[in-house]
Amino acid sequence: SGNLGSPVVTALVDEGFQVSVTTRKSSSATFPTTVTAYRTDYSSDELRNIVNGHDAIVVTLGFEGFDIQIGLIEIAIAAGVKRFIPGEFGSDRTRPQGRRLKEFDAVLAPKQLVLERLQAAAQEQKLEWTGIATGPFFDWAIDGPFNSFGMDLSNSRATIFGSGNEQVTATNLGTIALAVAKVLQLPEKTKNRMLRIRSVQSSQNEVLAELEVATGTSWTVDRVETEGLVARGFEKLSKGDRFGFLDVLAVELFEDGAGRSVVVSEEDADNALLGIPFDTVKGTVERLVKQRAS
Ligand SMILES: NC(=O)c1ccc[n+]([C@@H]2O[C@H](COP(=O)([O-])OP(=O)(O)OC[C@H]3O[C@@H](n4cnc5c(N)ncnc54)[C@H](OP(=O)(O)O)[C@@H]3O)[C@@H](O)[C@H]2O)c1
Repeated sequence: SGNLGSPVVTALVDEGFQVSVTTRKSSSATFPTTVTAYRTDYSSDELRNIVNGHDAIVVTLGFEGFDIQIGLIEIAIAAGVKRFIPGEFGSDRTRPQGRRLKEFDAVLAPKQLVLERLQAAAQEQKLEWTGIATGPFFDWAIDGPFNSFGMDLSNSRATIFGSGNEQVTATNLGTIALAVAKVLQLPEKTKNRMLRIRSVQSSQNEVLAELEVATGTSWTVDRVETEGLVARGFEKLSKGDRFGFLDVLAVELFEDGAGRSVVVSEEDADNALLGIPFDTVKGTVERLVKQRAS
């Protein structure tokens, strides 16, 4: 379930896969009748029974569930699972460390452990993996619960970090979900590597300009400097406020001149390998504005 899990389930079903999902016993999530849903406490015993007989595992757990992956990898190996798609779906963790904000990496430390364990398992030929680096979820970041692209469609108000010109590549949720299905359809070409995909390359200013056109209004703009935001984010996190993550994310994505946020150029993108489309900022923004109006 969740932001990514729901479209991934839809894409896998649409592409003809037989799909099982896991969900917490306490969860209120619902699933299509075409999938088998296992309510679980994620204990090793329960996971062993669930995983048995499956060819691939796709992890779309939210942040609080990231650690489950470590035990799950061992269970997948023992059960003879062929492909493990870890909960990556962000920046390209296989790039040199210096290309990412170290504080951002620190928040996402469990992802690094998972990747290293998968790389070791692949080296020992125990399990194949594929990571998918997507940049921000573009449509979800513009009109989702956290407004992580700084755009507030309800109030026609934008928060621009720094100049607003920093270049960012990002991928729409439906395209990411389709990429997951395509990876499983192309196991040989996609094994043991991080794939880098994108829908668009853009900036906060460009997205804002397209939103002003699509909504036919002039937006209010709040300007925020990225300096000091990382410290503010960590202070919030230390007090148990998980929204502190958004301050750190804003610096990771939008800090002027940092050059961290272009996951991949259009020419080097793995979209062609997977047969998934690019999109435009205009097209995405128009779709989101239309969805709101309907
Ligand atoms: N690049 C981006 O912009 C971006 C944005 C968001 C997420 N991501 C990445 O995408 C992946 C999925 O994130 P998401 O936002 O889709 O996740 P999410 O919606 O926050 O959570 C997905 C599901 O995880 C389950 N879950 C939550 N807490 C759990 C816990 N403590 N133990 C076990 N299960 C738990 C819940 O399922 P049930 O209720 O069914 O149990 C929830 O619906 C992650 O790897 C994340 O880092 C990337």
